[in-house]
Amino acid sequence: MHRGDDLIGFEAPREPLLTRRLFMRLPVAADLAAICRLINDPIIAESTGLIRYPYPVMSGRKWIEAAHKPARPRLHIPYLLTLRSNPHLIVGAAGISLGKGGIPTIGYWIGRPYRRRGYASEAARALIDLTFSSSDSSAIGASARVTNLASQRVLLGAGMRRVGTGRIKSAQLGRYLPVLRYRIERKCWEKARVPRSNAREVHEAL
Ligand SMILES: CC(C)(COP(=O)(O)OP(=O)(O)OC[C@H]1O[C@@H](n2cnc3c(N)ncnc32)[C@H](O)[C@@H]1OP(=O)(O)O)[C@@H](O)C(=O)NCCC(=O)NCCS
Repeated sequence: MHRGDDLIGFEAPREPLLTRRLFMRLPVAADLAAICRLINDPIIAESTGLIRYPYPVMSGRKWIEAAHKPARPRLHIPYLLTLRSNPHLIVGAAGISLGKGGIPTIGYWIGRPYRRRGYASEAARALIDLTFSSSDSSAIGASARVTNLASQRVLLGAGMRRVGTGRIKSAQLGRYLPVLRYRIERKCWEKARVPRSNAREVHEAL
């Protein structure tokens, strides 16, 4: 396991992450059409910084390709969210990116038909477990629009605390939007640690 000089601090594991119901895996070219169908949603575009509506197919293609490039340092580690009971059914996506100040940040979206089933919460917890188990990061961050109550609930439920406010540039709306910033410190995660995914096993297998 390489540590220290990667910006995020670990290579993208090739192994899928398993949670109680999710099978989180790297996207592949064959997923493109299904991803585009789900992500092509104005709510997703208005809730996130970089995703646009209508969603350009080229953006999806680039996102998938980037997942397989041996980039170092790796600035984004993407996961496609599928179900353990049906790994062909895509329900959303999530990822870890390098935030300002070198802090890893998590993000996610869930396709409209699959919301309110706890999938974002499961994915967020798995990403937090993976990041802390596989890197030396002292904290993980996230942000949510002030109007995005669902995302705020996801972050609080995953053990994050609200630490302030900020703004993100919305590619969709072409302006800055106010956001709430969240954070979880490694020591809080360690204290409350309940295994919620196989992140530790994935890390140890590397
Ligand atoms: C935000 C989003 C990812 C939540 O996904 P989800 O799988 O429906 O979330 P969960 O089912 O895990 O629900 C998490 C919590 O939010 C609550 N919640 C879900 N949808 C909600 C809504 N529309 N309004 C208020 N609360 C909501 C749930 O009741 C749950 O609360 P609890 O933990 O107190 O029980 C999803 O709505 C989405 O993809 N939105 C568009 C993209 C986006 O906002 N991405 C995040 C950018 S910061």
